[in-house]
Amino acid sequence: MKSLIMKGARIIATGSAVPNSTINNSQMCQLVETSDEWIVTRTGIKERRILTGFNKSIIDLAVVASIKALDKISMHPSEIDLIILATSSPNDLFGSASQLQAKIKACNAVAFDLTAACSGFVLATVTASQFLQNGNYHNILVVGADVLSKWVNWSDRSTCILFGDAAGAVILQSCSKQDNKILGFQLNTDGNYYRHLSISYKEVINPHPILSLYQGYFESIYMNGKEVYKFAVSQVPLSILKCLNSLNLSINDIDWLLLHQANERILNAVADKLSIDSSKIIANLSKYGNTSAASIPLALDEAVQENKIAEDDIIVISGFGAGLTWGTLVIQWKYK
Ligand code: UT7
Repeated sequence: MKSLIMKGARIIATGSAVPNSTINNSQMCQLVETSDEWIVTRTGIKERRILTGFNKSIIDLAVVASIKALDKISMHPSEIDLIILATSSPNDLFGSASQLQAKIKACNAVAFDLTAACSGFVLATVTASQFLQNGNYHNILVVGADVLSKWVNWSDRSTCILFGDAAGAVILQSCSKQDNKILGFQLNTDGNYYRHLSISYKEVINPHPILSLYQGYFESIYMNGKEVYKFAVSQVPLSILKCLNSLNLSINDIDWLLLHQANERILNAVADKLSIDSSKIIANLSKYGNTSAASIPLALDEAVQENKIAEDDIIVISGFGAGLTWGTLVIQWKYK
């Protein structure tokens, strides 16, 4: 996809937050019939964090992640023009981003939620880059935050062992066209397969006696793991190749492969298919499990903190999940 950009955009800070409570695989064995061996060999996950405590929500994690990112560059929250909160586990169906805006005192920012599950961070960052590259905004806070522990059926061993809670934040800033570091993207949705991964709304059988109106409730997470696995391993490499082609980049130009942290086998299979050396894979899912919209910014923040990423490194980022939606974002890293 070609776009006419007026200005450049780049990531200038990252931050993340995870809850204190940990559930390791042996604790998981007390909840469902599973084993550390099964979980580690099938997923690579050893433990995950869950948000415990009454009235805690994504906002608690999103606030910490955002403030960490702001503090890193000594930016006052009032300098933020826009907040995009990528989440599929809001604490208000009307949207949670405004609560984040108020809590961090980003008084000049417009704020909205973006729902795209595990692709949410990629879609939110691409959306933010459009506002920057067309010259409308100067500073944008993008947060990926999910607390899927609240939506997991804790007696369904096929899903409850996978997910964890977290938030990750990045601050994007506009810059000159020559300094643009959000190099390109490639996005996809195929709603024909939405049933493979959903938190669906279920209507009750009896309608309202006068209005003939059906109301209902949201169910727990359902996933057809095998189908989602096959989809990820076949479609993500294609998306990456399309995106690289559009940018005249080759596989050899990639310094880091940062995929949504769903399953270690998926990370390895995608890298294998593209002949990307496994040393270039950024992975932290053994510690946090699948944290949905938070997984990519959480792993990015950790990699930055560990000084893994060098100036000018090319990072290929791909998200995939419910929708089904998937996509790739290619960025170049700049510290200054
Ligand atoms: O974040 C959005 C994107 N999500 C993903 O990309 C996830 C994609 N899917 C996956 O990562 C994998 O499909 C899973 C990790 C979810 C499952 O791994 P799998 O190798 O596809 O296992 P499976 O679902 O085919 O199950 C294999 C066997 C079954 O037993 P039978 O039918 O062969 O007797 C399951 O009942 O493993 C059984 N099983 C378990 N056994 C022990 C399923 N869950 C568990 C468990 N512990 N937790």
